[in-house]
Amino acid sequence: MMYEDIESVLIDRNAIQARIKEMAAQLEKDYRGESVVMICILRGASVFFCDLVRELDLDVRFEFMSVSSYGAGTTSSGEVRIVKDINTPLADRNVIIVEDIIDSGNTLSYLKRLLEQRNPKSLKICALLDKPSRRKVELKGDYVGFTVEDKFLVGYGLDYAEKYRNLKDICVLKPEIYQK
Ligand code: IMP
Ligand code: MG
Repeated sequence: MMYEDIESVLIDRNAIQARIKEMAAQLEKDYRGESVVMICILRGASVFFCDLVRELDLDVRFEFMSVSSYGAGTTSSGEVRIVKDINTPLADRNVIIVEDIIDSGNTLSYLKRLLEQRNPKSLKICALLDKPSRRKVELKGDYVGFTVEDKFLVGYGLDYAEKYRNLKDICVLKPEIYQK
C-alpha cells in the first residue's frame, strides 16, 4: 500500500481540483481571445497539466518538454539538462510553462531563459506549488496554486525516486523513506 509511506496528506484531491478551477478562471480572463501554447514539463507536471487544460475554455495547444535537474535524491543538483525539447516554433506565440513545483528555481529560470530566446509573444510560468523558502535564484511564478513550506512532497505527479506520482493527493512523505 503506497499510503503506508505517507506521513500526512497536505493538500487533498478536492482542494487541488477547486484551486485548479480558480487558476483556470484566471487564465481564461487573461488569455481571452488568444491562443496559448501550454508546455508541460515532464514528468512531474503531467497530472496537473491534464487536469488544468481540461478546465480551460481557450484555444490551447499542447507541448511536452522533459528536463532533469534532480538525481534520485530530494535536492536539486543545480544543473539543468534538456532531455526532450519541443520542435514547434514559439515565435509570436503566447507560451505558458506548466510545472509541478518551484523549489530552488533553477529549472524554471533556465527554461525561461532558453524559451525567451525563441521570441514568444508572451511567456508565463504556471506552477501548482511554490516553496519560496528554498529559492536559490530569483524566480516568480505568474500563476501559483499553493505556497507550501519546506517539506518533501509526493503525489499528484510529484515523485520520490520515480515513485508515488499516481497518488491522488499531495502528501508529505515519511522522512525515514528518503533518509534510509
Ligand atoms: P528546482 O529546479 O529546484 O526549482 O526544482 C524543480 C523540480 O524539483 C520540480 O520540477 C520537481 O520535479 C522537483 N521537486 C522539488 N521539490 C519537490 C518535492 O517536494 N517533491 C518532489 N519533487 C520536488
Ligand atoms: Mg521530479
